[in-house]
Amino acid sequence: MNSKVIKRHTKVTIFMHWFNAFCWFFLLATGLGLIKNEDLQLTGGWWSNLMYSIFGSGETLLLVHEICGLTWLVVFIVYMIFGSRKYVIPFLKQVFTYSPATDLKWLIKKNIQMTLGNKWLKRLGFTPDIPEQGFYNVGQKLFAVASILGAIVIAVTGIIMFLSNILLQNTVIVQWAIVIHFVAVGVVTGGLLVHIYMAAISPDERPAFFSMFTGTVPEDYAEHHHKLWYDEIKGAEGKEHRA
Ligand code: HEM
Repeated sequence: MNSKVIKRHTKVTIFMHWFNAFCWFFLLATGLGLIKNEDLQLTGGWWSNLMYSIFGSGETLLLVHEICGLTWLVVFIVYMIFGSRKYVIPFLKQVFTYSPATDLKWLIKKNIQMTLGNKWLKRLGFTPDIPEQGFYNVGQKLFAVASILGAIVIAVTGIIMFLSNILLQNTVIVQWAIVIHFVAVGVVTGGLLVHIYMAAISPDERPAFFSMFTGTVPEDYAEHHHKLWYDEIKGAEGKEHRA
């Protein structure tokens, strides 16, 4: 096995990823705890009771939820301002760039391969080769786009709800904000389950999981899973070497 490694994530992007993940789980846990409506008990009541007993009261629970949401927003705004050229714009370019024909082929083949195996790929008339991918594969890019758009919707509707205590009162806007906030959280959480399975549980992607701590991946992983990115790096290294 090739033991050389390639840089994949910087310290800043690793920090932002885990900060984001921590805030997400904290907001999800406290947000679910805030649903104490008898007709809308997603967790059968025990979760709200647990959260209420940890934080002492509904007001404190709401306060910590709001503080975490606002801290998350402020940190991301600072990151977007100061890290725009180095981190944010390159990331957005990556995840919003698609090649529809090969990406669709990748999505279909990869899903069949992961769920039914290579045998079924052949049985269904597909060749076993999976289209080569760049820094992120299409699945990762689609999740990234969903989580970015979801985060924008969640932040805007969250601010509307936050302001409802001070300015807006219980208007139609606030009621719609509550519904849209729930739906957006539900959609991103659905994608998150797949993301966590792919990133932390699937043995195939284990090197990517470790890269979210170390910042590097083995060369052979990069070549096998992200060939277009690997070729780019090798091409750039070759040019540097010749110069
Ligand atoms: C236990 C929780 C989580 C784990 C184990 C995890 C793991 C990972 C790993 C290993 C990567 C790097 C993939 C690579 O280098 O190819 C990654 C990337 C990423 N993560 Fe997470 N993550 C978690 C939570 C979250 C949450 C809560 C969000 C946002 C809602 C999120 C959003 C992203 C995005 C946008 C990327 C870049 C694109 C992608 O790889 O999908 N992650 N995550």
